[in-house]
Formats: sequence, C-alpha cells, structure tokens
Amino acid sequence: MKILAIETSFDETAIAIVQDGTHVLFQLLTSSSSLHESFGGVLPELAARKQVEYIIPMLSETFKHHPLSSIDAIAVTIGPGLIGSLLVGVEAAKTIAFIANKPIIPVNHVHAHIYANFIKQERQSTPEIEFPALALVVSGGHTELFYMQTASSLAWLGGTIDDAAGEAFDKTARLLGFGNRGGKAIEEAARRYAPSKRLTRPSLPRPLVRDDTLSFSFSGLKTAVLREWEKEIYEVNAFAYEIQEAITDALVEKTLKATKNYPAKTILLSGGVAANERLREKFAERSPIPFVFPPKEFCTDNAVMIGAAASFIGTPTEWRYVEAMPDLPVETD
Ligand code: KG4
Ligand code: ZN
Repeated sequence: MKILAIETSFDETAIAIVQDGTHVLFQLLTSSSSLHESFGGVLPELAARKQVEYIIPMLSETFKHHPLSSIDAIAVTIGPGLIGSLLVGVEAAKTIAFIANKPIIPVNHVHAHIYANFIKQERQSTPEIEFPALALVVSGGHTELFYMQTASSLAWLGGTIDDAAGEAFDKTARLLGFGNRGGKAIEEAARRYAPSKRLTRPSLPRPLVRDDTLSFSFSGLKTAVLREWEKEIYEVNAFAYEIQEAITDALVEKTLKATKNYPAKTILLSGGVAANERLREKFAERSPIPFVFPPKEFCTDNAVMIGAAASFIGTPTEWRYVEAMPDLPVETD
C-alpha cells in the first residue's frame, strides 16, 4: 500500500510517500520554527499562515514524483495539535481525497511517533522489534507509555501529570538563556560540561521516580531550576548537565519500572526527546532488554511516521467523516 502522508500539527509542514508502513519513497519538510524565535514560543496564527503558504507547492512537488493516481490512501494528522495548523493539513487531505475519490486515514500524532521505529533503515543495524513491547513517546507536548502486544495494538499505561519532558527541556532552556532551541541546546551545553565535571552542579529533584505509578511529573523542575539559578553560584553548562540528568533519569527509571508488570521484549523510544544522546546512553547502560529508537530526523515531527502509523493502525475513512481534533486523547480504551 502506497500512502501519501501529511503532517501539520505544530510548526512543521511535512509530506511523505510511505510504502507498506516501512519504506520511505519520498519526503519533504519545512518548518516555521525560526520565525517564532522573537516571540518566546510558537505563535499559532503565524504557524498556520506559513502552512497555508507551504502546503500546495509541497504537494505539487510531491505529485511530480508520485502521481496522485499511484497513491492508495491519504494519511493525515487529525490531532492533537494546534487547531489552525491541523486544519491546513486536514482540509488539504480531504480535498485531495474528494477529488481523487481515495480514502483518508486519520492519524493520532502521538501514536504515530512510535511508528517512526518501523521504518526500514539502510546501513543501520538496529535490533528487531519483538513483541510484546513497551513504547515511550517523549515529545514537546507528551510523555506517554504504551504497551504493545502486537505492532497494531496500543494500550496506554501512563503519562505525565503536568509538563511533558520536552516542555521541561524547552522551559528550562529559556530560563538559561538558550531561546527556543530547547532540548538540543541543553544537550549541547551539557556536553561542554561533561568532560570536566569539576565544577559543582546544582541538585535537582527526580519527581515520582520512586512511586508505584507509571506517571511522570516535570513541572517542579522548572521551579527548582529557577530557585537554584537565582543563587548565581553555578555555571550555565553545569545546570544544563543536571537538567538533562534529571529528565533522563526519570524517563529511564519509569520505563524500566513498567517492564516489571508489563513484560516486554523490546523498548521503543520515540518523539523529539528520543533524539537525546544521553537518554539513549542511559537506556544502553540500564536496560536489561533491547531498545530501539528512530534516526534523529524521524524523532522530531515528520510525515513519514504518519504514513507508517496509517499502515499499522489506521482505518481508511471517507473524507466527510474526518475532522481536525486539537484535543484528541492519546489514551486508548
Ligand atoms: O516530537 P517533537 O518534534 O514535537 C512534538 O510533537 O512535540 O518534539 C519536540 C521536542 C521539544 O521539546 C525539543 O526540545 C525536544 O523535542 N528535543 C530534544 C532534543 N531534540 C529535540 N530534547 C532533548 N534532546 C534533544 N537532542
Ligand atoms: Zn510530535
């Protein structure tokens, strides 16, 4: 099955052609992220206006390589996300589906992150995904754990009760003066600190790490960082290092805790924060079971994962029944 996938839930506009949920035939991605720099966060209206501007030229380019007649279905992110942004992708998908008389496959963006792991990579030897598996989605808006009995079954186990892990990276990065560059900036600053470890570093909490639930909590981190930062006794890179340690400790410990009650043969990491090298390193050190993660370009938002998820868990639907749902839940029944 050859799927045209469209992703416009946040500040990216992304299109991909994905074959059988595992092979990328074509992809395009543009982002308005740099335009939001001076606003201290993504400005929803600006993001949507840019998506309106980008989407038709990008679709037109895609059809030059893969004519619409060769496509079996159109996958599109329907939520969760920014309403204006989602509408651009959803309405484009519906129009194509209507004109070409093809089914739409509505996709949940958070679930889709997991399926970035199913894309076949050349020149990369990752462990085979065996089931049952545990999936951790760590993005800017979500920190969620799922149990997968098969490649097409997702059972939600738990998530954050306040901020997401990526949000914690983003908010603390802004506090430290790294602007909107978020987790990536913290990772780079932490790397500058790591070789020496001479300078003392602040001590930050690891909330809920030792409790019995599968919940995460990251909002306290920002307050703790602020309190320590005001003391003006620690160097900025030492802060970045400790922030990264605190967030990655919580993610690794909770995921491994979940394997006690939900035996798994593989752990699947995904979402923007899964691009973090320290997180991968900690799983490598502490996980008794194999774990996989997508290449960095498929950790952050993209359309390839939308096409992959559509193949594994999607339901082909007539265009008239598809609508953008900004608050689409990630919990499964
Ligand atoms: O999945 P994603 O692109 O968008 C959402 O669906 O939210 O994730 C974006 C998040 C941001 O919070 C960003 O700071 C974080 O992923 N991120 C990272 C890294 N690269 C992106 N966090 C830690 N380390 C990184 N290298
Ligand atoms: Zn995402």
